[in-house]
Amino acid sequence: MSTPSPFRPDLYAGQVALVTGGGSGIGFGVSALLSSLGATVVIASRNAARLEDAAARLRAAGGDVHPVTLDVRDPEAVKGGVESVAATHGRIDLLVNNAAGNFYVPSETMSANAWRSVLEIDLFGTFYCTQAVFPVMQRQGGGNVVNISMTLHYRGWPMMAHATAAKAGIDALTRTLAVEWAPHGIRVNAIAPGPIPTEGVRKAFTPPSGSGAADVFAVERAMGDYAKQTIPLGRWGTPEDVANAVAFLASSGASWVTGAILVVDGGEWLWKPQMPGGAPAR
Ligand code: COA
Ligand code: NAP
Repeated sequence: MSTPSPFRPDLYAGQVALVTGGGSGIGFGVSALLSSLGATVVIASRNAARLEDAAARLRAAGGDVHPVTLDVRDPEAVKGGVESVAATHGRIDLLVNNAAGNFYVPSETMSANAWRSVLEIDLFGTFYCTQAVFPVMQRQGGGNVVNISMTLHYRGWPMMAHATAAKAGIDALTRTLAVEWAPHGIRVNAIAPGPIPTEGVRKAFTPPSGSGAADVFAVERAMGDYAKQTIPLGRWGTPEDVANAVAFLASSGASWVTGAILVVDGGEWLWKPQMPGGAPAR
């Protein structure tokens, strides 16, 4: 963690967290914070080598972290993975649905498989994982699900029709399951992060060569002060910003919070260029 955690060091002691996509980027940051707060953390995704490396780094920092290889698009693999986590660690207190895939593609040329891939990873994967942890959480008398959404669907984001549709679906799932599963003591919340320059997002936001679209990160790098101009709080986000929000939402401090979609973006999505004569954002 780059800044000291505001949370008690044993906040998650005795709890088991399952973080999809926990081997990289935001998921790694979430896993690092939860394990530093005492949770046993299972990180799950497709790339076994990356997971092993991430788990080893978190264990070296004192965490109790275990990799599980699975593809969230495969409901049987998800069910098997969740059952093995519950059998090995006895419970699952927190599921963080963080795995996602994304890339820039013009809607008019997006292939059916490209559309399906992103919907299957982001939306279907979130549902499969959430459905798979239900019996475990029901048995133990409750639990928390935190979905990682985005803000791009609040307005429009050209060339991201697949991801914005998927994340809008995740927001709907968050609200519906929050109501449906509240009687089981299961809280379902979401976080909508603003721009966080992970390696994954750099790859996803680089348009295919020949598409005619600008490499947004190259443009932003060239502008230099892009974040200062367009993010009211004046900086890019970090995985720790999202991790702190997860640690709050899944804690007893949020025990009356369910169905919430917490925007963690430095005010980015609210901002737009001011009308002539209006006050500058910063
Ligand atoms: N532009 C247009 N289409 C693309 C594309 C791009 N940049 N990248 C992939 N596709 C298409 C493929 O062409 C394929 O469609 P086709 O069979 O009609 O050709 C389809 O998407 C699936 O691609 P494939 O490479 O087989 O999928 P995958 O399951 O191996 O990978 C991705 C999934 C494509 C989402 C991959 O980018 C990924 O796993 N990303 C994870 C990291 C990431 O995106 N992080 C950012 C999170 S915000
Ligand atoms: P990232 O590092 O690329 O994370 C994506 C993770 O998902 C990877 O660890 C990947 O691991 C995993 N994954 C992808 N497909 C999978 C599949 N089919 N099955 C299992 N795991 C899969 O990107 P990130 O920026 O940290 O993004 C994390 C989350 O934050 C995503 O939900 C993203 O939409 C959201 N978000 C990010 C930003 C941002 O600016 N960074 C903004 C808003 C929202 P494997 O390759 O090993 O499978």
